[in-house]
Amino acid sequence: MSLLSVFRVSDPGLCLHTLHQPDAIAAALAGHGVRFRKMPDCAVLAAGAPEADIRAALAGPIAEECAHGGYESVDVVSVTPATPGVAAMRTRFLAEHVHVEDEARLMVAGSGVFYLRVQDTLLLLLLEAGELISVPAGMRHWFDMGLQPAFTAVRFFTRPDGWVAQFTGDPIAASFPDWAGAAAA
Ligand SMILES: [Fe+2]
Repeated sequence: MSLLSVFRVSDPGLCLHTLHQPDAIAAALAGHGVRFRKMPDCAVLAAGAPEADIRAALAGPIAEECAHGGYESVDVVSVTPATPGVAAMRTRFLAEHVHVEDEARLMVAGSGVFYLRVQDTLLLLLLEAGELISVPAGMRHWFDMGLQPAFTAVRFFTRPDGWVAQFTGDPIAASFPDWAGAAAA
């Protein structure tokens, strides 16, 4: 079930409200310049499916999204508890950071949580299979894949090095619910 929870950065212990209806989530995120799309036809493959199979199965939606967002290239990332270095990977993306290009991700299998910081507002989005998010360049955010990650996502890029994270050094992520907390909401 789609989930967007809204907090104040200054009051992490109080969830102001939670949305589950996809159109309401898309509208709330659009107000902050974040694009959210339901793409249910893209939630058709098991986590860890070969990249070539995913590209072939989703060629149409991927091409459409590239045209829509102006993306030049895509790749596929799959993470499981057996992925080498998975703990360090989780820690890296749990740290608040920004990018110089949009962070567009289409979840194909499994889920992950995006945390988006806009001044004193913190948006917690549980991104599930068949959902796409595009975080605008420069927006502070972080991502939790959970202690037992199991997801596959298509990543969209506009430039070869645009996805490189610039970390803010702010330990804010520790104050908010992690993947397990969000998924249980
Ligand atoms: Fe990021």
